Amino acid sequence: MLIAIIVAATTNRVIGKQGKMPWRLPDDLRYFKETTLGRHIIMGRKTLDSFGNGKALPKRSNIVITRQKNWAVRDTIAAPSLSAALQIARENGENTVFIIGGRERYPQALPLCNRIYLTEIHATIEGDTFFPPIDLQKWQEISRKPHPADERHAYAFDFVIYERILSE
Ligand SMILES: NC(=O)c1ccc[n+]([C@@H]2O[C@H](COP(=O)([O-])OP(=O)(O)OC[C@H]3O[C@@H](n4cnc5c(N)ncnc54)[C@H](OP(=O)(O)O)[C@@H]3O)[C@@H](O)[C@H]2O)c1
Repeated sequence: MLIAIIVAATTNRVIGKQGKMPWRLPDDLRYFKETTLGRHIIMGRKTLDSFGNGKALPKRSNIVITRQKNWAVRDTIAAPSLSAALQIARENGENTVFIIGGRERYPQALPLCNRIYLTEIHATIEGDTFFPPIDLQKWQEISRKPHPADERHAYAFDFVIYERILSE
């Protein structure tokens, strides 16, 4: 099973501020949707709260990592850890699982991942939640598609895909 991270981060590696993403980039949301549609997605409980007002993202199998024993939200599967979440995706026969955040997931998930879908936002934006640096000794850029700033997008950004070349 391919394990992928999908994340949008600014030049200063910000991914969130006060439980939200401090930007609005509709074409990035569309890319996120198109890339993850039909797949298992794994997220921390606060990421579920931040996306879609705490509701499952449609047309994907939503696995939510929480320490709360009785946590239940319609159309989601609760898991007590990242490894339990990955096991659920594996048992369901998934071939590409996406880890979609948040910060608490990434340092733990990065060593297990083979691919990173990173939207590089060309801006320095204040935030409180960060993505760790990508070690270019271990990761190789295999694709980059630029998107300009325009009337709907305050910042330019690139859709970048990295593939692992060296394990941890
Ligand atoms: N830019 C992007 O692409 C992107 C993507 C995703 C998220 N974000 C941003 O990231 C922020 C949310 O991320 P976050 O780091 O604050 O939270 P998070 O990782 O999404 O969720 C944290 C929650 O996960 C559960 N958890 C964490 N470690 C656990 C463990 N070891 N075992 C079991 N459960 C565990 C806990 O849930 P319980 O409290 O229920 O136990 C914890 O409160 C928001 O600002 C969001 O907008 C940005």
